[in-house]
Amino acid sequence: MAPGLFTFDIMTTSAKAKISPAAQESGTPTIWLNGEWCDQSTAMISVYDHGLLYGDGVFEGVRVYGGKVFRLEEHLDRLYDSAKAIWLTIPMDKRDLASITREAVSRSGIAEAYIRHVVTRGVGDLGLDPRKCPKASVIIIVDTIKLWPEQVYETGLNVITAGTPIPQRESLSPRVKSLNYLAHIMAKVEGIHAGADEVLMLDSSGAVAEGSGQNVFVVKKGRLSTPPPHAGILKGVTRDVVIELATGAGYQVEETMLNRYDLYTADEAFFTGTASEIVGIRQLDGRVIGTGKAGQVTRDLRARFHSLVRS
Ligand SMILES: Cc1ncc(COP(=O)(O)O)c(C=O)c1O
Repeated sequence: MAPGLFTFDIMTTSAKAKISPAAQESGTPTIWLNGEWCDQSTAMISVYDHGLLYGDGVFEGVRVYGGKVFRLEEHLDRLYDSAKAIWLTIPMDKRDLASITREAVSRSGIAEAYIRHVVTRGVGDLGLDPRKCPKASVIIIVDTIKLWPEQVYETGLNVITAGTPIPQRESLSPRVKSLNYLAHIMAKVEGIHAGADEVLMLDSSGAVAEGSGQNVFVVKKGRLSTPPPHAGILKGVTRDVVIELATGAGYQVEETMLNRYDLYTADEAFFTGTASEIVGIRQLDGRVIGTGKAGQVTRDLRARFHSLVRS
């Protein structure tokens, strides 16, 4: 999307600034909340907001590399599609949200940033009826994120399979990036209690789905496999980038159902995600995968990914 396409300056220029002078100077986390510029101490949301009361809303996580927002269009497409799927109207045009997002990044002064978009059903009463919420709340947070120390990208992650399966895809499509992350959080907590770095989540029939906030790939004899969207995964933007990069680099890529055996016996396995980027899995449930560190294909794709995000 060319920045010139954006015409929406009215809201940003007329927005009331609630940001402290210190935060403006040092370049710190910056928040746009329903038309107002805030910082971490001034960004406040009502306890009657249905995002808080019911997890009624959707979100996105986007990365900024060298001041450039990576795949913003794809993330916002997914945000608007998620909202549509739950009958939630985002009260602004996609291009306006993109424009304000870029402005938020530039105001923050954070070149290597992580952006969180949150759209909730808005303020209502204590019942769950969304008709009581006249207007969605829109939040953009620009901050940073670091899931693991840098060496993990060399050593790979120690992963266990979580006992908590992904939610039933018939009740809430995993394609919706909704504010309901409890199953994934419970899975993550299981991993923490077991001393693992990350978890693998299955569906209720035992098929491999995804990580707590990542998609998963295996590499066997130079061929990449990853579960298809209908396996009950969030269709990751990074996953799609990796498929593009791998195909472009001449690797064979297939979207196919996987089980844990495919991971235990893989030459390599890795997770992909906006926050995680591309990170190798060195062992799963005590079985060492491949050489027991980030494999050659994983490293190759990670290098290609890093040159793409800075291109
Ligand atoms: C459950 C889940 N799966 C997969 C992903 C990876 O998606 P993306 O690459 O778009 O960040 C995420 C991250 O947002 C996630 O939360």
